[in-house]
Amino acid sequence: MAPLVALCWLFLLNSVLSRGFHPLKYVDPLIGASNGGNVFPGASLPYGMAKAVADTNSTSNQGGFTLDGAVVTGFSTMHDSGTGGSPSLGNFALFPYKNCPDGDINQCVFPKRSRARFGAFSNGSVTSKPGIFGLTLDSGIRADMTVTQHVSLFRFSFPPIGSDGEPAQPLILQDLTDLADSRQDNGTVSVDSKTGRITGSAKFLPSFGGGNFVLHFCTDFKGADILDNGIYVDSRASTSVKDLTISRSINGYPLPGGAFVRFKSADDPILIRTAASFISVEKACSYGETEIPDFHFTKVYDAATKAWEQKLQPVRVSTKGINESTLTNFYSGIYRTMINPQNYTGENPLWSSNEPYFDSFYCIWDLFRSQLPFLTITDPVAVAEMIRSLIDTYRHVGWLPDCRMSLNKGYTQGGSNADNVLADAYVKGIDGGINWDDGYKAVVKDAEVEPYDWCCQGRGGLDSWKALGYIPVQDFDYKGFGTMTRSISRTLEYSYNDFCIAQMARGMGKLADYEKYTESSSNWQNLYKADQTSAWWNGTDTGFVGFFEPRFLNKTWGYQDPLNCSYLDWYSSCSLQNSGRETFESSIWEYGFFVPHDQATLMTLYGGPDAFIRRLNYLHDQNITYIGNEPAFLTVFQYHYAGRPALSAERAHFYIPSFFSPTPGGLPGNDDSGAMGSFVAFAMMGLFPNPGQDVYLITPPFFEEVNITHSLTGKTARIRNVNFDAEYENIYIQSATLDGVAYTKNWIDHSFFTQGKELVLTLGRNESLWGTRDLPPSLGK
Ligand SMILES: *[C@@H]1O[C@H](CO)[C@@H](O)[C@H](O)[C@H]1NC(C)=O
Ligand SMILES: *[C@@H]1O[C@H](CO)[C@@H](O)[C@H](O)[C@H]1NC(C)=O
Ligand SMILES: *[C@@H]1O[C@H](CO)[C@@H](O)[C@H](O)[C@H]1NC(C)=O
Ligand SMILES: *[C@@H]1O[C@H](CO)[C@@H](O)[C@H](O)[C@H]1NC(C)=O
Ligand SMILES: *[C@@H]1O[C@H](CO)[C@@H](O)[C@H](O)[C@H]1NC(C)=O
Ligand SMILES: *[C@@H]1O[C@H](CO)[C@@H](O)[C@H](O)[C@H]1NC(C)=O
Ligand SMILES: *[C@@H]1O[C@H](CO)[C@@H](O)[C@H](O)[C@H]1NC(C)=O
Ligand SMILES: *[C@@H]1O[C@H](CO)[C@@H](O)[C@H](O)[C@H]1NC(C)=O
Ligand SMILES: *[C@@H]1O[C@H](CO)[C@@H](O)[C@H](O)[C@H]1NC(C)=O
Ligand SMILES: *[C@@H]1O[C@H](CO)[C@@H](O)[C@H](O)[C@H]1NC(C)=O
Ligand SMILES: *[C@@H]1O[C@H](CO)[C@@H](O)[C@H](O)[C@H]1NC(C)=O
Repeated sequence: MAPLVALCWLFLLNSVLSRGFHPLKYVDPLIGASNGGNVFPGASLPYGMAKAVADTNSTSNQGGFTLDGAVVTGFSTMHDSGTGGSPSLGNFALFPYKNCPDGDINQCVFPKRSRARFGAFSNGSVTSKPGIFGLTLDSGIRADMTVTQHVSLFRFSFPPIGSDGEPAQPLILQDLTDLADSRQDNGTVSVDSKTGRITGSAKFLPSFGGGNFVLHFCTDFKGADILDNGIYVDSRASTSVKDLTISRSINGYPLPGGAFVRFKSADDPILIRTAASFISVEKACSYGETEIPDFHFTKVYDAATKAWEQKLQPVRVSTKGINESTLTNFYSGIYRTMINPQNYTGENPLWSSNEPYFDSFYCIWDLFRSQLPFLTITDPVAVAEMIRSLIDTYRHVGWLPDCRMSLNKGYTQGGSNADNVLADAYVKGIDGGINWDDGYKAVVKDAEVEPYDWCCQGRGGLDSWKALGYIPVQDFDYKGFGTMTRSISRTLEYSYNDFCIAQMARGMGKLADYEKYTESSSNWQNLYKADQTSAWWNGTDTGFVGFFEPRFLNKTWGYQDPLNCSYLDWYSSCSLQNSGRETFESSIWEYGFFVPHDQATLMTLYGGPDAFIRRLNYLHDQNITYIGNEPAFLTVFQYHYAGRPALSAERAHFYIPSFFSPTPGGLPGNDDSGAMGSFVAFAMMGLFPNPGQDVYLITPPFFEEVNITHSLTGKTARIRNVNFDAEYENIYIQSATLDGVAYTKNWIDHSFFTQGKELVLTLGRNESLWGTRDLPPSLGK
């Protein structure tokens, strides 16, 4: 479609859709703010760089704010969402006091750790909606915040009288710390004595990777007249010094340092505009001046609200019989898919390019499964920009990332899973100016060239992979270096990566490559040990035979207990430790299903569909898998491949809402960007992707009707449940039609969304024969 036509469509769409549909009332950003969800629950635009929130001193403050009884240590403008690893960002926090005792600045408490005792607040004072966050400190100071793309606007409202009974003379400090206390040497800060503008720069460390990054900031104030200002070091402040360069630390904790501004009165709220930039202080200041010229809080908040309303328009569900909690679960899940990755276009100091630059792919091992595929449906324009950014990163850094945050390479968890992301978009026809030739070169490099440091890009063990057809345990690899564990999960993931490359090759007419990578995509079979059994720790056998096992260079078998690194294993190291196991964050049992492209052959090895289903049930029912980590996602729906879509529907309802509820503690694990959010959204929508393939597995939506409008074609895809009941007893599809014609496949492809087709599902109380024969594609028979 020509751009002009597309533009008209968008315009029409917006005017038609915005009438009477207000999804924001169903968004609760606080879902996942406690119990290890680690979400960013503050104010952000879709993919925004400015992310304003209160930071707490919780040991689970990866996303900044938590609702777990921890107290506030500051208010900062940069964050990530849902991550594990060290806390990310949280740089240049502000902290307000209504008075310094006796009017003496040295009696105000500056260092982050000590000022935490003024950071108590009550849960009930917290407000969080898309684009705005606020809370009231027990000191009586109310802090509200909203954002534009690069700038946060904070509003501190003070009680007019200070604790000493004197009229308040608020002091606001801004310090050079971050959440992880990672500041390096030579942080700088300056305050302009006349305007109070605070500027500065410091070097920090990324939270799950190597390297470092420099961030600059610029803060302006509006409200009361300025009384005085200056800088502080450790717990001492001065109004006569205006510039500071500070060393890293004493005893490992960054030396507290920053600037402050004190005001003459607290009659009006004080507005603070903080902008950050990876380029320069000047750029940060100009963001502030251009994005929020007049400090108009309501105007900024209104614009943020509109941006979110717009982004949530494409998916509309019937609310008939559905309670608010179910709707909140759903729309909040969708909301969380658009917090990360972050749009740093124009903010990349590493290379110059006209391509978009996105950051916080944190990490692709998590995102490829459902978050990016979800955006492929609801926001294809953004996905195209993300993919262009990934390809541009390959052009300038040499490799596609597997994880990337704060301008640095993150650690690779398994395969080169950006291959899956590119293939998924490619087979679904995402265009948006992507240079697919370069994209193809990038994925082929993953498959063919071993990086010296495969900690953070590409794949390790490629010589063995080519010679043996698997990654050996205790491999001999003198060409590249990384953590020498995960031989099973890497073999399985590399196999699927190769399948994904083959899909792109086929589409581009590279038939020799198609055959080559299709062949190596079967390498997973080389680790299948047909006589392997699995027993519980008490000796009771699970009754299943045939598991993946590690294999040495000399082709003899090693051994790992198939239940190691299951949800019930509290003892093994299952992450990136040197002592880690041969499966990453997951058991052999669970990885035993990770053959997304060849369920048919896997099923044959497992003894046919019935045995496959018994094994899949056992995986879920015995808590071997846990839905709080991403490898579990696809296993919920893999019954489709055995001709039992009814069991996938049962499983989806088994997990939602029991394991995903719309409360702060309601997530079963780290949201991992918006991975958990996208799982909820897809499962409730009734279509689950097998990413890298043009396949969505059909289950009945949790709503009588779902409409999904495509932002580029303007077409609306519609799924309708006939005999819908909100108690979810009728969750079994009896028959289906697609655009009025009987439909017997238990899956559908992406043209459903782009062409706006209509799928009508007739439901009943019992499993039927529907979907038992027309199975999704598999390499084998
Ligand atoms: C509320 O506050 C208490 C104590 O401060 C905390 O333990 C609790 O988990 C908080 N969060 C929620 C969601 O209630
Ligand atoms: C957070 O700060 C409060 C108040 O100073 C303190 O009691 C608490 O121990 C701190 N928590 C952590 C994890 O440091
Ligand atoms: C900090 O600045 C000093 C003086 O310019 C310089 O010698 C030193 O190398 C700098 N440290 C770092 C880590 O850049
Ligand atoms: C879905 O779209 C159809 C056709 O435009 C419309 O009649 C129906 O009301 C829509 N349903 C929802 C839930 O918006
Ligand atoms: C990303 O940011 C650039 C520059 O501000 C903008 O042109 C583009 O539309 C943004 N992309 C998305 C998906 O928001
Ligand atoms: C051994 O443990 C498994 C898993 O917890 C359990 O199902 C089984 O009943 C136990 N067997 C015995 C003999 O206790
Ligand atoms: C194969 O290699 C393993 C690990 O080095 C060793 O324990 C085993 O004895 C070897 N087997 C043969 C037959 O060489
Ligand atoms: C992991 O596997 C080892 C070796 O089989 C076994 O000794 C250990 O008990 C397992 N750990 C758990 C928690 O099952
Ligand atoms: C699995 O875990 C759930 C709680 O998450 C528990 O209710 C259930 O009993 C467990 N099942 C088994 C077989 O241990
Ligand atoms: C809302 O409906 C769902 C599904 O029927 C149910 O599980 C949940 O308990 C209900 N929640 C409330 C607050 O009524
Ligand atoms: C559904 O199955 C149950 C037994 O599982 C049976 O009692 C009932 O009659 C069946 N209902 C229909 C409509 O077939």
